[in-house]
Amino acid sequence: MPTPHIEAKNKSEIAKTVLMPGDPLRAKFIADTFLEDVVKFNQVRNVLGYTGTYKGRKISVMASGMGMPSIGIYSYELYNFYGVENIIRIGSCGGYTDKVKLYDVILAKDAWSESSYAKVQGGYDRDVIEGTEVLNERLLNYAKDLGIPMHTERIHSSDVFYRENFEEYKEIYEKHGCVGVEMEAFALFHNAKVLGKKAACLLTVSDNLATKEATTSEERQNAFTNMMKIALEMAE
Ligand code: HPA
Repeated sequence: MPTPHIEAKNKSEIAKTVLMPGDPLRAKFIADTFLEDVVKFNQVRNVLGYTGTYKGRKISVMASGMGMPSIGIYSYELYNFYGVENIIRIGSCGGYTDKVKLYDVILAKDAWSESSYAKVQGGYDRDVIEGTEVLNERLLNYAKDLGIPMHTERIHSSDVFYRENFEEYKEIYEKHGCVGVEMEAFALFHNAKVLGKKAACLLTVSDNLATKEATTSEERQNAFTNMMKIALEMAE
């Protein structure tokens, strides 16, 4: 410590539980809006990280950047060098079916991916990795207490945002049962597994490939509040 990508000088600067949005400005928004006694612990590459308290309990929030290589680096360093135990990704996803509506919240019980991340990182050769069950149970209970409906489903972690043949999503939905697509959960779940740590992923539907609906960036900001409130209850 510090690590190549995180400048915090010791473990106490980062809570045992870290919320990870993709976007650094969303990490800042969460710290500014929901946390008290906030201290910024990282700004290397503008990948902002903050620690504060929520309802008096300690929690950190740090961006992951986009894609599996990026979340792979940050989650590995947090788990392995800073003693972080729980990482909750909070992100957006594109729906693959009209079963998931714009702004719905999805708990990713597992992630299917054609990515080589887990194979290259640790010789894992299946294409599905689960999130951590005890975290999922806690998040489901918090959502219930807050009265926020939540789907529990498989999602697709993709390396590609712009596919030449975007219709391929239909096959991924039918063959693998993924209700939506994002770009990070598979690598996060893998790192947690190999390091003996815990990970979960909450997603808000920001667009839908099947119905062609989309949200504006301002609408997204507000809608994401539901997901953030569920995740913030993880503070301890
Ligand atoms: N693809 C990948 N990631 C996403 C999408 C998408 O369509 N929408 C939100 N995150």
